Amino acid sequence: MQVHATIASLRAARAAAGNTIEPAQRVAVVPTMGNLHAGHISLMRQARDHADVVIATIFVNRLQFRPGEDFEKYPRTFAADCAQLEAAGVDHLFAPDEAEMYPQPQTYYVEPPAEQANILDGEFRPGHFRGMATVVLKLLQITQPHAALFGKKDYQQLMVIRNMVADFNLPVKVIGGETVRADDGLALSSRNGYLSAAERLEAPRLFQVLTQVAVAVRAGNLDYKQLEQEAMTELKAHGWLTEYVALRKKLDLQCTPVHDSGLVVLAAARLGSTRLIDNLEV
Ligand code: PAF
Repeated sequence: MQVHATIASLRAARAAAGNTIEPAQRVAVVPTMGNLHAGHISLMRQARDHADVVIATIFVNRLQFRPGEDFEKYPRTFAADCAQLEAAGVDHLFAPDEAEMYPQPQTYYVEPPAEQANILDGEFRPGHFRGMATVVLKLLQITQPHAALFGKKDYQQLMVIRNMVADFNLPVKVIGGETVRADDGLALSSRNGYLSAAERLEAPRLFQVLTQVAVAVRAGNLDYKQLEQEAMTELKAHGWLTEYVALRKKLDLQCTPVHDSGLVVLAAARLGSTRLIDNLEV
């Protein structure tokens, strides 16, 4: 695996892939913030199904964190990440520092529309999707992939990226990878490492309540408000501080009065000081 700290180095390697004798090699990128787990590695392996050349990126993007969030303490495990990427057969890693990605303060931003960016996670993390979409656009411009893969665990992020790519006519296919879970159901996340031993035992409840909601909807229960409320009540009873449990349309994450077989139930809740998110397609 070649490791590139600079855009110039990555672009030189990318150009070589593009200049291959016909047909030009296909390139897939998997953007990450590092501290890789099996969910990321599953995306790397799926990327191989879509491309001859797989590029991973690692960059903890300050723009998508609010003051007081975990930007400073976000786990940075570069050596272990490199070993995992090597083992997964990734060809190139782009791992710039902040000066490389933001040589001067970013002045142009991707501004996702409020109905996508200010709901659900965006309500509790104002500005998050603006910072995320801005860095993803930069990473796509730098890596120029045919395909880009993102985990469905960040369902709203995936929706925003799909819409950004469509709106800007970016020549990249966006692929969502299924959430990878621990044996007890907890969605893998770099933030799981913040949980204490007791919190880690409690954490699978988030997936359990989402499953209960999904099962009820599949069985024909159309009282979404009540189902959301019951889920929040159960989380609260077990010490969670719930931000939302919401049944939404898969396509645009807007509310829907009817079950149109295109629903997803999403949740964000805090266990101690750790904020966890998860979702389940219904
Ligand atoms: O999902 C993430 O790890 C980040 O939001 C992303 C897409 C790499 C952008 O910083």
